[in-house]
Order: sequence, then structure tokens, then C-alpha cells
Amino acid sequence: MANTVLQIDVSPRGADSVTRKLTQNVVERLAPDTIIMRDLTRSLPHLDSDWIGANFTPANDQTAEQRALLRISDTLVDELRRADTIVIGLPVWNFGIPAALKAWVDLVARAGETFRYTKDGPQGLLTGKRAIIALASGGTAVDSEIDFATPYMRHVLGFIGITDVSVVAADKMVLDPEAALKAADEAVLNLAA
Ligand SMILES: Cc1cc2nc3c(=O)[nH]c(=O)nc-3n(C[C@H](O)[C@H](O)[C@H](O)COP(=O)(O)O)c2cc1C
Repeated sequence: MANTVLQIDVSPRGADSVTRKLTQNVVERLAPDTIIMRDLTRSLPHLDSDWIGANFTPANDQTAEQRALLRISDTLVDELRRADTIVIGLPVWNFGIPAALKAWVDLVARAGETFRYTKDGPQGLLTGKRAIIALASGGTAVDSEIDFATPYMRHVLGFIGITDVSVVAADKMVLDPEAALKAADEAVLNLAA
């Protein structure tokens, strides 16, 4: 049961956006008690040397300025921690993920917070969660050899401990939009609630 869902949207196309419709359908299907909305069209900062320095400074040694620099990242990580299920709208852009979503990834992949290094390699810390990627594309087939978006998101989510990842896809929209949307709707209906 998805008590708390984190819904992440990134498409700037508003009412025309396919991924926004899909994330909404997925969330309706899950019928959670609580929805945390995160709209990435309101730009997130890119990492700079001050941010990286703050992130690598032990919490007890951080200055007030460094804590302030990390605040938005802390908020995004907290949203992930609170969520049982993360629903991510993923428009395929130039065979990968939109830069705004990559900025989110850079802000949530934090050593000591969402993953840690062990003698056996990195270990994801956000375990026991599920993610659903709601993807739309023009011509790129999901999981084809030119789809760098889906495998990347699966890998990054797994890296922070979220290994239960499903994909609902309205891919190849330019070829047959009706078929693409029908396949996505069916995939949403087939999701475990
Ligand atoms: C900047 C940009 C780049 C795109 N690059 C690709 C691409 O590489 N492959 C593809 O299949 N579709 C591409 N598309 C089409 C989008 O994936 C498609 O319009 C999809 O519906 C976007 O999701 P949205 O409707 O939620 O905005 C691109 C669209 C834009 C605006």
C-alpha cells in the first residue's frame, strides 16, 4: 500500500504534457493517503565548488553558510525518506533525462545520507521503497539501445537503495500516439495498488 507518494514532474509543457498526465494517473491508481508534489520546472541549483565543499564537510563542522547551501538538498532527501513510493515523470529529452531532473539527481545522491561507501562498494540507504517511472518519448523506444534515460534512472534509483522500479511508458508518441497512450494506460491499470 502506498501511504505516501512523492510525485515528481519535470515537463514544462503544462496541460500538453504526456508525462504529467501519466504521473497523475499513476498517483490516482495508487490512491495514497499523502502526496508530496515536487515540480522541477522551478529550477534547482547546479552543484558548484562551494556546494561540493559543504557536502564533504562533516555535519558538526559545517558553517551556517554551508548548512544554508545544503538546505534544498536536505529538503529533497527528506521528501524521498518520507515517501513509500516515488512516481517520476520522465520526458525523454535528447535520448536522456531533462537537465532539471539531473539537477535533482545530483542533489539527492549524497554520501552518508542516501548511500554510503562500504568495503564491498557503495550501498543504497533508501531501502524498502518503490519507484514508478512514467515515461513519454517522441521516437525513442523505451529500453532500446538509444534510450539512455530509463537505464540511467533505474541505475541511479538502485544506487540510493530503490531497486523496485517499474516503468509505464507512452513511448514513440510520434509514430502512433493512440497506441502509445493505450499501452501506458494499460500499464497503469496493471500496477499493484
Ligand atoms: C528538448 C526536447 C528533446 C526531445 N528529445 C527527444 C528524444 O531524444 N527522443 C524522443 O523520443 N523524443 C524526444 N522528445 C520528445 C518528447 O520526449 C515527447 O514530446 C514527450 O511527450 C515529452 O514529455 P512531455 O509530453 O511530458 O513533455 C524531445 C522533446 C523535447 C522538447
